[in-house]
Amino acid sequence: MRKSLIISFALLAPSSQTYIWPSQHDQLDDLLYLQFGYIKDGTLSDQVATCDFGAKQPGIQKAAEWVRTAFHDSVTYDAATKTGGLDASVQYELDRPENLGAALNNTLADISSSVNIRSSAADLLALSLVMSVARCGKMRVPLRLGRKDATEAGIKGVPEAHTDLATTRKRFETASLHEADMITLIACGHSIGGVHSIDHPEIVPGAVSAEKKLSFDLTKGVLDNAVVLEYLDNSTSNPLIRNTNDTLNSDKRIFAADDNATMKKLVDPAYFKSQCEAVFERMLSLVPVEVTLTEPLEPADIRPYITTYQLASNGSVQFSGRLRVRVTPVTGRDQNNLTASIILPSRNGSQATEIPARRATYKGGMSSGYLDEAFSWFEFSQILNASEAFSSFNIRVNDITYDNGGTGGYPINRDVLYQEAQSCVSFDAAANQDTLGVTAAISKSLLGGGIAPQIRVVQRTKVQGNFIPRLKQVVVQMVRSSEETADYVYYTASTTIGADSLSTTFDLEVGESNVEFINTGSISVRCTSLKDVKRT
Ligand code: HEM
Ligand SMILES: *[C@@H]1O[C@H](CO)[C@@H](O)[C@H](O)[C@H]1NC(C)=O
Ligand SMILES: *[C@@H]1O[C@H](CO)[C@@H](O)[C@H](O)[C@H]1NC(C)=O
Ligand SMILES: *[C@@H]1O[C@H](CO)[C@@H](O)[C@H](O)[C@H]1NC(C)=O
Ligand SMILES: *[C@@H]1O[C@H](CO)[C@@H](O)[C@H](O)[C@H]1NC(C)=O
Ligand SMILES: *[C@@H]1O[C@H](CO)[C@@H](O)[C@H](O)[C@H]1NC(C)=O
Ligand SMILES: *[C@@H]1O[C@H](CO)[C@@H](O)[C@H](O)[C@H]1NC(C)=O
Ligand SMILES: *[C@@H]1O[C@H](CO)[C@@H](O)[C@H](O)[C@H]1NC(C)=O
Ligand SMILES: *[C@@H]1O[C@H](CO)[C@@H](O)[C@H](O)[C@H]1NC(C)=O
Repeated sequence: MRKSLIISFALLAPSSQTYIWPSQHDQLDDLLYLQFGYIKDGTLSDQVATCDFGAKQPGIQKAAEWVRTAFHDSVTYDAATKTGGLDASVQYELDRPENLGAALNNTLADISSSVNIRSSAADLLALSLVMSVARCGKMRVPLRLGRKDATEAGIKGVPEAHTDLATTRKRFETASLHEADMITLIACGHSIGGVHSIDHPEIVPGAVSAEKKLSFDLTKGVLDNAVVLEYLDNSTSNPLIRNTNDTLNSDKRIFAADDNATMKKLVDPAYFKSQCEAVFERMLSLVPVEVTLTEPLEPADIRPYITTYQLASNGSVQFSGRLRVRVTPVTGRDQNNLTASIILPSRNGSQATEIPARRATYKGGMSSGYLDEAFSWFEFSQILNASEAFSSFNIRVNDITYDNGGTGGYPINRDVLYQEAQSCVSFDAAANQDTLGVTAAISKSLLGGGIAPQIRVVQRTKVQGNFIPRLKQVVVQMVRSSEETADYVYYTASTTIGADSLSTTFDLEVGESNVEFINTGSISVRCTSLKDVKRT
């Protein structure tokens, strides 16, 4: 560790920086912005690695399925009562004729492992649309968050190919989407993908097979306005225009609903793109009255990732992790000329401690994602004396010190240390359940006054016929062990967490002092028996 006298706290980051760490939406930021490179979370983005990617399943185009699913969930919004909309109620509506086919269920399967206590299925459906249209058309749709998941089916009424124009218009109107919005939204959606013979043999003529699919336009893997141009110049093969049974020609009816006025405007590609972005944004904003959406997600400019803050038996504290620095051109940062470090608060006001961070080397120490956002990574690891444990830090990048958006630092709990190395998970096939053992080192200063440390574990339960797991929080009291180190006492808890929870999250709670959203997925120790949960 280097003690430095030259750190100036006068040079603080601009106050326009609004990201505050930690954020409820850090995981969604990872999913959207870290698609490639040193650290990536490809859980969602790998499935739309290209716009036509379909995981080698015949006839499947994931991006198209995701856009369609978001539409089917949203369009049953009722603007008068402010109910329905994008609330993941589609998970309870799969058996309706209007939701026919495997596509919507596939989408729920695709997002299911990302659903957790901070990321609702409805927010993930919004994210999956944002990701798809970025991949397919370089479109930028603001991602507002905070949706809650419905617990039961909503109203019916997603228009089908045979639905008459008046009924279709009324459905969109009820959802607050007027005629031009309706036409635009369908032109934007029906620019990718097509109609499957297996789901719609009445629309796709001839023998039925899984791979047989008629595209809406000649560029089914690009979200562009070819669907509009081909319609207007009468070269289209759109199956919802060319059906010999005119009842099934919904696109034909809708595109001509205002005598082609909207379609003619969409001939300009830049206008088409901006209109699609705007109307997709409105569609994702159709949420029930009890939901307040956030401002659009922006990539965090500077973000710490703490991997370890734990006590060793010799009384030292290991502090390690990574720093992510946004280097997308708008930041003005030169990725080849960056230094980063962690600045610990000074104990007596005269000196600050600086922990250097090294530029990561794997894959160039770079990650990228959503519309060419780019990030440089730094790694740090430091052994501290337990008496030097701290509860917040600043981050220095080149000569600027960042204090977490003016909040006075990046907070970290020095009184409740999560002992990952002494925690464990295991799966018991016979009992068909997972076991979680958690150890924490808790500062003596917190204990007393009847405070009972506990863990709050999120159990993921499979629901028959539904890919979206049910999340239930369970509180388990921690037990004081006889072991102590420095000014900390070890506490443990163990619990069975159902068969589907090997990768879930939990909180450590000691009165008002918490460590939240700890992921069990990074625990590498297996619990061989419950006794092993004890500190070693
Ligand atoms: C009156 C309104 C609409 C009707 C009647 C309609 C009808 C259809 C039909 C019959 C299919 C074929 C499904 C299949 O065989 O898998 C389809 C596919 C699709 N729809 Fe729509 N749609 C409408 C509006 C929209 C809107 C507003 C969007 C997007 C915002 C959208 C996005 C899509 C996409 C992306 C596909 C392709 C799915 C794939 O390739 O797997 N649709 N639509
Ligand atoms: C709209 O455009 C289509 C395709 O070019 C054409 O067949 C139709 O006659 C047009 N309708 C009107 C009212 O202009
Ligand atoms: C438009 O194309 C269809 C199908 O190729 C054709 O039957 C029709 O005559 C064309 N209409 C015009 C106005 O050219
Ligand atoms: C056209 O499609 C509609 C809706 O599926 C159906 O009721 C009708 O019988 C069809 N007409 C013909 C001639 O096949
Ligand atoms: C204390 O233990 C940690 C972790 O095992 C080790 O890295 C560190 O060097 C030790 N410190 C001392 C002073 O022995
Ligand atoms: C402040 O801390 C530094 C380093 O820990 C120490 O050298 C110095 O004597 C301290 N000053 C006071 C006034 O305590
Ligand atoms: C940690 O600091 C305490 C108090 O300053 C000191 O007594 C102890 O020897 C230090 N331990 C180590 C491992 O440096
Ligand atoms: C690197 O950044 C420093 C400021 O942090 C600046 O003074 C220096 O000119 C830069 N060097 C290059 C080669 O850009
Ligand atoms: C959706 O998938 C689940 C899980 O495979 C299955 O049990 C359910 O029947 C499917 N629902 C529909 C409507 O296909």
